[in-house]
Parts: sequence; structure tokens; C-alpha cells
Amino acid sequence: MSRKFYITTPIYYVNARPHIGHAYTTIACDTIARRQRMLSAETFFLTGTDEHGQKIERAAQAAGKTPQQYADEISAEFRKLWQRMGISNDDFIRTTEERHKKRVQELFRKMRDNGFIYKGTYTGQYCVSDELYVDGAQPGDPCPTCGRITETVHEENYFFKLSAFQDQLLQLYANPEFIRPETRRNEVISFVRSGLRDQSISRSTFTWGIPVPNDPKHVIYVWFDALANYITAIGYGSSHAGAQEAFKKFWPADVQMIGKEIVRFHCVYWPAFLLAAGLPVPKAIVAHGWLLFEESKMSKSRGNIVRTETILDVLGADALRYFLLREVVFGQDGSFSFDALVQRYNSDLANGLGNLASRTLTMINRYFKGEVPYPSKAASRKPADDAIVELARKTIHEYGSFFDQFQFSRALETAWALVAAVDKYIVENEPWALGEKQDEDSRSRLGTVLYTSAEALRIVTALAHPVMPEATAKIWRQMGLGDIKKVALNELAWGQLHLGTKLGEVQPVFPRADKSAIERMQKMEEQGRGPVVEEVNVATAPAKVEPAAPAVPAPIVDGGKISIDDFAKIELRVGLVKVAERVPKADKLLRLEIDIGTEVRQILAGIAEAYAPETLVGRKVVIVANLAPRKLRGLESNGMIVAASLEGGRPVLASFLEDVPVGARLK
Ligand code: ME8
Ligand code: MG
Repeated sequence: MSRKFYITTPIYYVNARPHIGHAYTTIACDTIARRQRMLSAETFFLTGTDEHGQKIERAAQAAGKTPQQYADEISAEFRKLWQRMGISNDDFIRTTEERHKKRVQELFRKMRDNGFIYKGTYTGQYCVSDELYVDGAQPGDPCPTCGRITETVHEENYFFKLSAFQDQLLQLYANPEFIRPETRRNEVISFVRSGLRDQSISRSTFTWGIPVPNDPKHVIYVWFDALANYITAIGYGSSHAGAQEAFKKFWPADVQMIGKEIVRFHCVYWPAFLLAAGLPVPKAIVAHGWLLFEESKMSKSRGNIVRTETILDVLGADALRYFLLREVVFGQDGSFSFDALVQRYNSDLANGLGNLASRTLTMINRYFKGEVPYPSKAASRKPADDAIVELARKTIHEYGSFFDQFQFSRALETAWALVAAVDKYIVENEPWALGEKQDEDSRSRLGTVLYTSAEALRIVTALAHPVMPEATAKIWRQMGLGDIKKVALNELAWGQLHLGTKLGEVQPVFPRADKSAIERMQKMEEQGRGPVVEEVNVATAPAKVEPAAPAVPAPIVDGGKISIDDFAKIELRVGLVKVAERVPKADKLLRLEIDIGTEVRQILAGIAEAYAPETLVGRKVVIVANLAPRKLRGLESNGMIVAASLEGGRPVLASFLEDVPVGARLK
């Protein structure tokens, strides 16, 4: 029976469209999956979308859609993008699918039956953006992960006995393969050593989630729901025999790849959930770093994303795949720039592999009528030929070991060292000069040089196929070798290229990109990021924006005190945030539309560093309703939001523990 291999990406939130950060993880997993298939493993590659929870519910509200409509649209965008890129996933799971919901409930039931779930009350802080319970935080404290101000949650919940798993988890981490890289493993170990608290795993104050079995007032915590996808997709909890078999075959996963910001969920909660259900834990959780753009993490809430489509339109998927895997040291953060992308493309692909393919194959066409030649005389061999053979053998071996350690950049570096060596070999052996001569020695020498070059090209092409599926398939066809997917990488060796192989039609694979490629991509991104507010002095306007502050200065009477009449002049009202969005080119400013009962007001508030716009929609706030309007960045602000100004800290919006009607006056 063949070996199986199961690999997963995180399932992406549907609160915004995909960007190249998501593409990065998906590409890395796709590359591994493709290599495993070429190593004859029965491979299952899973990706999908994470569609429940408060964050999505609020994002949908902000977009004026039902959560389901909203999730349908954005999930489809992910799926469409992966299809366009030729991602080879075997399934795409959506957490709103029936199959997933039922099986999550099964998992919950199982853990409850096993005695690891109980009911309690949670009072504490919650970060909606990370869907994270922030242990030990006080009201007004920022989220340790994203820095946004946490919200206070007070509700009856189901709890998971995470505290019972400390020792078992530490035992798992003793295996150095379980969490990679080492730095992430060490962080997790010290976190778990410092003690684990039981974890709330349900919410009861909103409804966009999977109901808790036998207690539908509660919905299952979105991270529980999301993590479970890795087993529900392959059949856990199903009553169908086929699904059960698939689950038995593929679980535990061989590689679960994630970004470093979700390590704790995957390395602490996830294995503990599995242990509580009596299931095996994954073999390896592999965390990569962040793609940075303009010096900070590319993310939808920061608005500094690069869309994958732009790169696909201009350079194609293979260029992006090669760039990300070659340029970023896996595990560490890496910067993305259009300049670097085009530079890599030109140096390694257009001038590197592409040039090697076209010059080698063109010369075989010209001098040997398009049939792979073979050295006819042993006497015509030179040490330089053997050096290439030796290097190619070493490359096959090293490429594999780097790759299997997730060191994609080093693997590619090794393969491209072979490309460079063959280039130099061609220059030094001047096949074009040999081709001018007709004597037998020259013909034989020419055959050796071109065979050696072509064989090295074949080896690099096969090794690089998982990284650049399209371009390598083209080179393979040009070499007359058929379907590259059928290559068995574990059998790849020097000398498999047969004498007389008839070449296909030779065409350039990586046309050179010029400066205009960079400009085109930059322009597409600027346009794609939505309209910039047209105002004469956007760029030059002073960056200073008045922060949201406690209510306004009022006329001061005797001893700094004001009269009740003075206070009565200030009209404080409860408002409901309907729309919240960033103001382009103003880091601190949000534009809000706030319903105050009688009308909807536009208000600009300097709270963008403390609150992500999507976390504000649906939230009740206090506003000063009778402040004279003023203009900020060309936009009229008609009122002011009330917030506590913390010394040196971020503003914290005033809010209510009890429910209050919109428009109510504070007095
Ligand atoms: O966290 N650099 O979803 P998400 C590198 N739904 N990778 C990046 C990246 C960047 N700038 N931005 C995103 C969630 N990623 C949860 C996961 S799993 C059970 C639930 C990639 O939409 C990276 O893999 O925020 C990261 O972990 C993932 O997208 C987060 O996607
Ligand atoms: Mg995220």
C-alpha cells in the first residue's frame, strides 16, 4: 500500500478578499503536496474558509449583507483565485457547510461525554478581530496580539478543561518535529509551562455560529469550529462508511501549515481538543513568518495588502510562486516589493532557467535536427562534463533534504547553482563553435556538451515542477518528454534522458520583464485599493487630528465648577455605529456613520489606531450631538464620540453594560 500524506492550510476568514499573504501559505502547501504526489504518496491537500463568529457577523453587517450572503461571496473569491492559480487542493471546506456543522457538533458531544466540557460563566476581555479570549486583561486593555482595545464579555459559556492537558501537551512538545521552527516550539513550551486556564468554547450573545448540541442558545466558539475543519473535511464524525475510512486513512495530518500569529491556537488548543476526543494529534505543525509590505505585516485591517491577481496578470502564477519560496527564508518574515519580484524574475527565471532551456534546446534543434544527441566516443569526455554530472547528483539529494525541512529558499538556491554551473559550462565549451565544424571529434564533443546541458536542464525542471508547475510542464513538453506530473521524483537520476528523444516546439518560457511591469503592477494596486478621497491638500494637510476626548470644555464658573444648566447645554446621546471605515492617508482617523435615533450622522474620530473599523459596526457609543460641525481632511464631522483618554495610551470608547435604546439622552 502506498504511503499517505495529508497537508492543510489554515482556513481563511471571509471578512476580506484574499491577498498574497494567504497565497503564500497556500502556495507553500501546494508545492509540498505536488512534490509528495511526485514521490508517489497518496496525497490529500485541504484548504478552505472560516465563516462563523462575531468578526464575520460584524463585517457582513458593515457591508449591509447577511453573514451567509457575505460568506458566500468572499469564499467564492478564495476558491476562484486558487483555481486561477492552479492550486491542487483536493477539497475546499467551508465551515458553513452542513457536513462540517454536524461533525463539529459530534466532536463537541464526544469531548463533553469524555468529561472535558462543563458549563460556567465567563467575565473577561475578548478581542473580536482575533476572536481571542484575553486572559487576565482588564477592561480597556489592548489585545496582546493585535493591539486593539478588547471588549468586555460577561456571559454563560461552556468551558473546555484545557488545564487538564498541561502535562500531555508538554510531552508532545518533547518531540522536536511536532512544532517547527524551533523558536515557535520554545515559545509554546514556555507558555504551557506557565500554566493553562480552562477555555471558554461557546458564546451566547450572538448567533452566527454552530449551535451547541442540546443547548442551541449557545453557539460554538469560532476557533473550536474552525480548527475542527481539519478532521471534519476528511470524514470525522460522519456516519458514512466511506467518510470514516477516509478519516482513518488520512488522519493524523502530516503537515499543518500556519502563519506564526495563530501558533497558540494550533499548538495548544488544537492538540488538547484532539486528546480530549481521544484522537491522534497531527505529526507536525509548521509556522511560517509574515509577508511584510511597506514595512509592516500585510493585512486587510492595515490596508497594506497586495492582491495576487495583479501579479498573475502581469507575470503569472509561477513567477509569484518562485519568488515567494526563493526570496523568503521560511519561518522568518520577508518583505514583498514589486522591484524585488521583477528583479528575481529576470535574473533567475528569464536569464536563468528560461535562457538555459532556450539556448540548449535551440542548439539541439539546429545541430541535431531536434533529436537529443549522445556522446559517441568516451575519449571526447572532459572533467568539466563529469563535474556537471557530479553536481547534478548532489543537487538532487540536497534539494530533497532542504525541501523536506521546509527550507524552500535553500532548496531552490541549490538547484539554481546547477543552472549557473551549466550556463558557465556552455560558455566555456562553446558549442556554437563546435557546431561550425564537421569532423567527427567535434560532432562527438558537441553531442556531449549538449547532452550534458539538456540532462541537467531536465533534472532542474523536474525538481522545480512542484514550485512552478506551468512553466516546467512547458519545458518538459519542449524537451519531448510528455507529462511531467508522471515523473517519479524518488527515481530521478542522471542519465535518464534518452538518445534520440525528439524535441517539441521550442518557445520562450519566461519572457523578460521590463520596468513597465513594475509600474503596471503598482498602478493596478493603487486602483484596486479603492478611491482615494479627492481633496487638494490631502498629502500636505497636517497629520494632527484631534483625538477623541472626554466631553468638551464648558464655560467655567466659580472655582472651576459648572452649573447644571451649563452641563445641560451638552447634548450627549447614545448612537449606533452603522458604518466605519478608514480615511485614506490619515492613519488615525475613522469615518463613522452613527445612527442617533433621529438621523444618521457622519462623525470623524481619531481612534483608528485603537479600533479596527469592522469591530465598531453594530456597537453603541456615546456622542456629543450638538457640537458645531467642522471639517477634517475635507470631510464634515458632525458631532464627537466620547472616549476615555488614557495617559500615553489609546482612547477607550464609552459604552454600556446594559442594553440602551439608540438616541437615549445622557444627563
Ligand atoms: O487566522 N504573511 O484566518 P486569516 C504571511 N481563520 N501569511 C499571511 C499573511 C501575511 N501577511 N496574512 C495572512 C485566520 N497570512 C483563521 C484561521 S485555522 C483553523 C483558522 C496567512 O484569514 C497565514 O497562513 O486571518 C495566516 O496564518 C493566515 O493567512 C491567517 O488567515
Ligand atoms: Mg489574521
